[in-house]
Amino acid sequence: MPLEDRGEDTNPLSGDDSALAIVRQPTPHDSAIKHVSGSATYVDDIREPAGTLHVVPGWASDVVRGAISELDLEPVRQSPGVVAVLTCTDVPGKNDVSPAVGDEPMLADREILYWGQPIFAVIATSRDAARRAARKMKIVADPLPPVLTIDDALSANETVLPDYQFRKGSPETGLATSQAKLRGQMEIGGQEHFYLEGQVSLAVPGEDNDVFVHTSSQHPSETQHIIARVLSVPDAAVTVEVRRMGGGFGGKESQANHWAALAALAARVTGHACKLRLDRDDDMIMTGKRHDFRAHWTLGHDEDGRIRAAEMLFHARCGYSADLSLGVVDRAMFHADSSYFYPDALIHSRRLKTNTCSNTAFRGFGGPQGMLAAERMMDALAITVGKDPLDVRKLNFYGADRDTTPYGMHVEEHATLHALVEQLEESSRYRERRAAVGEFNARSPILKRGLALTPVKFGISFTLKHLNQAGALVHLYTDGSVHLNHGGTEMGQGLFQKVAQIVAEVFGVTLERVKITATHTGKVPNTGPTAASSGTDLNGMAAQIAAETIKTRLIDFASEHHGVAREDIAFRDNQVFFGDEAMSLEALARAAHLARIQLSATGFYATPSITWDRPSASGRPFHYFAYGAACSEVTIDTMTGEMRVDRVDILHDVGKSLNPGIDIGQIEGGFVQGMGWLTTEELVWDESGRLRTHAPSTYKIPTASDVPEDFHVALYASSGNPSPTVFRSKAVGEPPVMLAISVFSAIHDAVASLAPGLLPDLNAPATAEEILRAVTVMKRRKSSA
Ligand code: MTE
Ligand code: MOS
Repeated sequence: MPLEDRGEDTNPLSGDDSALAIVRQPTPHDSAIKHVSGSATYVDDIREPAGTLHVVPGWASDVVRGAISELDLEPVRQSPGVVAVLTCTDVPGKNDVSPAVGDEPMLADREILYWGQPIFAVIATSRDAARRAARKMKIVADPLPPVLTIDDALSANETVLPDYQFRKGSPETGLATSQAKLRGQMEIGGQEHFYLEGQVSLAVPGEDNDVFVHTSSQHPSETQHIIARVLSVPDAAVTVEVRRMGGGFGGKESQANHWAALAALAARVTGHACKLRLDRDDDMIMTGKRHDFRAHWTLGHDEDGRIRAAEMLFHARCGYSADLSLGVVDRAMFHADSSYFYPDALIHSRRLKTNTCSNTAFRGFGGPQGMLAAERMMDALAITVGKDPLDVRKLNFYGADRDTTPYGMHVEEHATLHALVEQLEESSRYRERRAAVGEFNARSPILKRGLALTPVKFGISFTLKHLNQAGALVHLYTDGSVHLNHGGTEMGQGLFQKVAQIVAEVFGVTLERVKITATHTGKVPNTGPTAASSGTDLNGMAAQIAAETIKTRLIDFASEHHGVAREDIAFRDNQVFFGDEAMSLEALARAAHLARIQLSATGFYATPSITWDRPSASGRPFHYFAYGAACSEVTIDTMTGEMRVDRVDILHDVGKSLNPGIDIGQIEGGFVQGMGWLTTEELVWDESGRLRTHAPSTYKIPTASDVPEDFHVALYASSGNPSPTVFRSKAVGEPPVMLAISVFSAIHDAVASLAPGLLPDLNAPATAEEILRAVTVMKRRKSSA
């Protein structure tokens, strides 16, 4: 079926649910049992070819920023087990692993730009031997004063990319004519990905300088391209395969390239298979994280709390290179409205350059930072006008005639936002609990409760337009089994299972007939990263198109061969029905094969309707929005700053779910990961620029015991995505992270209860220390008020 026909009414499988057999079923993740039993093969589990060597990057633990004046690698070379030592002079092609502007040397060349930057690589017979050898390097570097913090970068006036802004209407007039103005600012911390499987690649050399690389990458095509660039070979000489990742969360969208390229170079130089698996501390020190931000805002509003104009400024700490900071900070700006209508707006951003690791994609891709600032602003506004925060939020929601975003796109589905929040307000008993929290706080001097209900509206599509395309390759074999391949990668999110369900649905076969296979640059080329939550939207559609192409050929053949009308042919239960007659799918496939019908097809999909033009900041960046809302209740201890999440209610919109089991898993996981970002996960760099939190002993991610005991997650009863998507579903990967803003907001509410009418000063993450600080400031303000 041609692409332009895949609109609202022409996709026969989209509207009518009654005929669906596999799609919409909560089937388990294809690897669920393998994950929990330890039998899923990750890169480090692949049986190593004989003679495999191990690669470890070497770095200077006493240099944060400096010019290398002497580098003595002789002691490293002499170390037991060492086969070779590589520096930037061994790179045959371009010494750059940057996904963007060419500013990331694979191995440092003369200057060191951050603590942990790889300078050389040791190749040895064992990983242990390579690690021991790497420490024997002798280096002399002339230290340069590092630029570390947002303040440092502002005074140095250094950026990785130009400043950027959206302007809507006349914010100056809007602010000048408002009844009241509210100013504020907050710090927003970064986040370590803490994928359970760290960065890893295994490169196997082939003939003619070919190389085959198994890696843990969200973006195999880019990994392929960067390896080719480093090795100075054509892309076609490099094949990259990814069966699965043990978590990516954005941390393997660009950050996997470096290690794959190093392993590939090592394989080229030695002629042996070479594996590079980063040590956990090295992984945390060397790779980029969620960007930390400082957000400033000025709101013009009326006495009811209705916003007249908003000016917001985002300072993002990008680290030493650009990496994906263009898109990440843009997405923060795209979500600086959260769910609220700003009649006039100015949203601007600066991408600050610092001598720290290069910050990168992380679930939400900047969106969470933008949205947190907007929600923090709402909480401050509610206190200022003396209203319940939920009422101020609802007053400012997008709606009819109030639907234009600061970047000019219209919010068409605002009714979903309203309905969803109403339903959650009811089901969570928000109003009763608001009263109960007030009563509790009135009689509890030390423990204080807080409650918040916050919305999520997240734009789906890559804001870099060309990434919104996908390909698939499907084969039907003559025994009726199906080989499924597409450009998306599996990182635990259930993409492979969802796409297999779609293909099984098209062929009317049971799931075990569909063979899920590893992502492979030789099968589907030139793919985008699996990111922006759009893995299923894109690859599901491409695979559906490929499967339908084969099915159409079979229908044409059967209709001719059996003299039945095309519409009377149906595929279900592993069979093909012609009126009253039936035959097995394998019988039809065999007959078609004998008649020389092609049983293999590619599928290609490009998202329609998106037209974003960045230079003029105009157009439609998103195919649609995914919505959600969460209501969280917390208790804080005002003596210690400790915090407990007492109850969480979530209602989330996934359109019509392809797999409610997987979707609920994504919502729960995304929420808990967001809660970690906002409450316990704190990255600490010391004054000299060394990251002090590079192991689980110092960096606290949520564990099973941090999941709220009273945790209710429900899917919004949607009549389907109004924008055409595969089976009317919506993307689910990232939006739930931002449901956790309700926890932050509830903490803010608890702190606010100490001094009604005064604004808390609370930054993220709201760790126990930060809550205690905010409480102390509040008490002081109250006594001086
Ligand atoms: N879920 C699991 N279990 N592991 C992950 O690494 N990554 C998230 C999200 N959910 C991730 C996850 C991120 S950052 C994105 S962009 C999406 O999954 C990517 O997959 P999708 O587009 O198929 O949803
Ligand atoms: Mo997700 S941050 O888009 O990989």
